[in-house]
Parts: sequence; structure tokens; C-alpha cells
Amino acid sequence: MPLVSGKEILQAAKEGGYAVGAFNVNNMEIIQAIVEAAEEEKSPVILQASQGAIKYAGLEYIVALVKTAADQVSVPVALNLDHGTSFDQAMKCVRGGFTAVMIDGSHYPFEENVAIVKKVADVAHAVGISVEGELGRIGGTEDDISVDAKDAFMTDPKDAKKFVELTNVDALAVAIGTAHGLYHGEPKLDFERLKEIRDVVDCAIVLHGASGVPDEAIKKAISVGVQKINIDTEIRLAFTQGVRKIIKEQPNEYDPRKILGPSKDAMKEVVKSKMRLFGSSNKA
Ligand code: 13P
Repeated sequence: MPLVSGKEILQAAKEGGYAVGAFNVNNMEIIQAIVEAAEEEKSPVILQASQGAIKYAGLEYIVALVKTAADQVSVPVALNLDHGTSFDQAMKCVRGGFTAVMIDGSHYPFEENVAIVKKVADVAHAVGISVEGELGRIGGTEDDISVDAKDAFMTDPKDAKKFVELTNVDALAVAIGTAHGLYHGEPKLDFERLKEIRDVVDCAIVLHGASGVPDEAIKKAISVGVQKINIDTEIRLAFTQGVRKIIKEQPNEYDPRKILGPSKDAMKEVVKSKMRLFGSSNKA
């Protein structure tokens, strides 16, 4: 079916008490793996492209591939810009066919963050596209955006309330102890802070950096009130581990389909297991 807005998917998740996976995409195999997994799990799904993914594959390719994949299935699929950093980038995605955009002004002081997010939200909302903002700073590396541990800081619940009121965002990415990329040691999530934020904001809450977070912590975050969970690194690992394995076991293989095909299956299994964990299976 045609792409739906991110808001539609996240509102249903809030009402149903589950979370929806937002999986990062860069190429056809990743897109197919995620959308096929969603169809088999009967789960709504969000696909998202970072600015790095757009630079790599091209905006038109990403949109065409995701729309084609969504058209083949009966579950709701949304396409989100992940960590857009400029008004221009967000507008290119709004015009280009995305159905949700994240505008990440978390590196700015509060007022400037509010200003850029509000500017994007005013335009995006007028054409039915939902908007995600970020408050606090999530550490780690997501493509071309790196935040040092010393620069990362947690979301202040009082600021979160003000931020959502002033910007009218549909989704808020919070910093509660997760980080993008691989973890060294086990991440410790601040559930008390998450609850304080949940109590004062009405919009969907987004957990970034969810690869490598233990299942129990994910379940707890959903029970407190997270509706969108971002996964990138675990898909990258499944893809590259699959490719490495084939090349090692069959060094003479030179058909890309025989190298990428098994990796696609490995990514699909990761995505399906996340959908079951997030409670979105059978919710489409
Ligand atoms: P991971 O790479 O840690 O899964 O994080 C993904 C993410 O939050 C994308 O915005």
C-alpha cells in the first residue's frame, strides 16, 4: 500500500501500548529485508534514511525503492529522514516523498533548537508529514554525526515539556542513556527520567541507539512509554557478518546475488526478532 505518515503509525502504537521499529536503510537489500520481515510479522514499520544514506544512494533512489517495497505489502510503511540537520534537507525530503522527517537541532542551544524544529514542523504539518525533534544529546556515531561522550547529556523533563509545546513535534527523541553504534559495556537507561518525560509530553517518544540494548531494558522502556525504537547497527552487523562468512567459506564465489542474498536473510531475522520484542508483530 502507499506510504503512510509516521504519525499514523506512532499514534496507533501509543494507543496499543507497543513500539514500532525504525530501521535505517541504505540499499535495496536492506529495504527488501525490512519490508518482507514486516509483511511476514504483520507489523507496521518505519524505514529511515540518514543524510549519509541519502548521499550514498541518492534521495530519488531511496524514495523509489521504499515506495516500491511498500506497494508490494499490506502493512503500513512510513519513510523517515533520520537526523536531518538543516531546513533545506528536511524540505528536500518533504518534497521528495518522505512521510516523516527528523530535524535534529540537539547541538544548538534550546531556543535555536526550538526555532529550527518549529520552522520545519510548520511546513511539514501543512502537507501531512510528521516531525521528530531531539532534546538532550545522544552520544555515539550515526553516519556523519558523531557526539563525544563528554558532549552527550540527558534530556531534562521540564525542557521536554516546553520543547513539545513550542514546536508541536509528533515525536521526541530523548537522551536517557543510549548511544548510537556499538556499546562498550552494558548501557544503563534512566527509566525514572523517561517516566518524568512521559508524564509531561503527549507526543510519541523515540529511543535512539537501541542496537545492543538488552531485551529487558527495551521491554521496560516500552512499558514506561516509548513508541519508536531506532535500529541501525544490528542490521549493519547482520549484513556484513553474512557477507564475510560467504566470502570466507566460498572464496571463489563472484555472483553478488549469492553473496548478498544470505545477508538479506540474516537482516530479515534481526528485524523480525525486534518486531516481536517491540510488540508490533500482528498489529498491522
Ligand atoms: P544504532 O545504530 O545504535 O542501532 O542506532 C540507530 C539510531 O538511533 C538511528 O538514529
